[in-house]
Amino acid sequence: MTASGRPPLNRRLAEFGTTVFAEMSALAVRTGAINLGQGFPDTDGPESVREAAVRALRDGRGNQYPPGPGVPELRAAIAEHQRRFHGLTFDPDTEVLVTAGATEAIAATLLALLEPGDEVIAFEPYYDSYAACVAMAGAVRVPVTLRAPRFRPDLDALRDAVTPRTRLLLLNSPHNPTGTVLTRDELAAIAELAVERDLLVVTDEVYEHLVFDGEHIPLISLPGMRDRTVSISSAGKTFSFTGWKVGWVTASAPLVTAVRTAKQYLTFVSAGPFQYAVAEALRLPDEYFTAFREDLRAKRDLLVDGLAEAGFEVHRPQGTYFVTTDVAPLGEKDGLAFCRSLPERCGVVAVPNAVFHDDVDAGRTQVRFAFCKREDVLREAVARLRTLNTARGRGTDAPR
Ligand SMILES: Cc1ncc(COP(=O)(O)O)c(C=O)c1O
Repeated sequence: MTASGRPPLNRRLAEFGTTVFAEMSALAVRTGAINLGQGFPDTDGPESVREAAVRALRDGRGNQYPPGPGVPELRAAIAEHQRRFHGLTFDPDTEVLVTAGATEAIAATLLALLEPGDEVIAFEPYYDSYAACVAMAGAVRVPVTLRAPRFRPDLDALRDAVTPRTRLLLLNSPHNPTGTVLTRDELAAIAELAVERDLLVVTDEVYEHLVFDGEHIPLISLPGMRDRTVSISSAGKTFSFTGWKVGWVTASAPLVTAVRTAKQYLTFVSAGPFQYAVAEALRLPDEYFTAFREDLRAKRDLLVDGLAEAGFEVHRPQGTYFVTTDVAPLGEKDGLAFCRSLPERCGVVAVPNAVFHDDVDAGRTQVRFAFCKREDVLREAVARLRTLNTARGRGTDAPR
């Protein structure tokens, strides 16, 4: 507080405290619990990619400010990746922008494209930076809820949410935390709406290589979307180097120019040597991407089955490395309270979905677990979670 009694944090950010990931990860460290809360892998990505970063550092590539839009090698590799996996063509000089992770790409895009008072529609539960970035831009978020058990988008609700003030749709597929992967029909309906109402669309595709059922279709590939979509992705999830924070935007030249204008005053540039390494990563053979997905598919199945056996209602994800569960069958009424008590009760950390919701009731008893962990860690977590039900059974059956 200053002498005037005014709090230091401005009104736009007043509702955003410490992120739940920080709280839960701190809890994991304090209690020594297995952290299935935050979505980071417990093993690093390919050795060859790590070596590429070391080489770049040693060779003095990227140790000084790299070019604002990103090093040409990486921009070329991003354009090649978009062509190889999605059949999309981008000019690496004008239609690709390297950012400090997808997080900066989202922030720069929203700061660049929004006027104060503009409305942004996003499916909730949403990744926590969306609401904060919309607020920083002085815009207004309008949630459309993905509801259990199927978490499909309600396209009528989406249409009804559009007003004359709506400027853009902010989409995430594969979707964190529900694991929903939008189908071609759903994307076509969204594209049609965007064209009809002249909306911009921002697509967060950081889990594009983690689709187990269905396929990842970039919205920007649909008719009418090439010039109104900002497509965002990142190396963190695909190559298991979340600490490097190398992300990117691919879009039409005017949109990339707009995003770059905001981005240059956020970080200007970042991750110099890592940019060269990610350029190599993006050119890994198809086998890398397939093996990565299949590894995570096996882990998904292990955790999904284990959670079901432990008494959770499990919503099997089609993509991402998260699984949303419902803890109501365990007799729990509140996911946040459940997650706060879980490390003490059985030595596991998870994240409550309610924190990703404006409509808190819609996610009140939902809890998210990450399965981007070693198999032995997941097995141990499952064994620990099973004791919840046993303890509960004992508690219920015991004579009073
Ligand atoms: C949906 C979604 N978008 C963006 C990010 C952040 O990506 P990055 O680490 O590249 O900033 C995450 C990370 O968890 C995410 O889940």
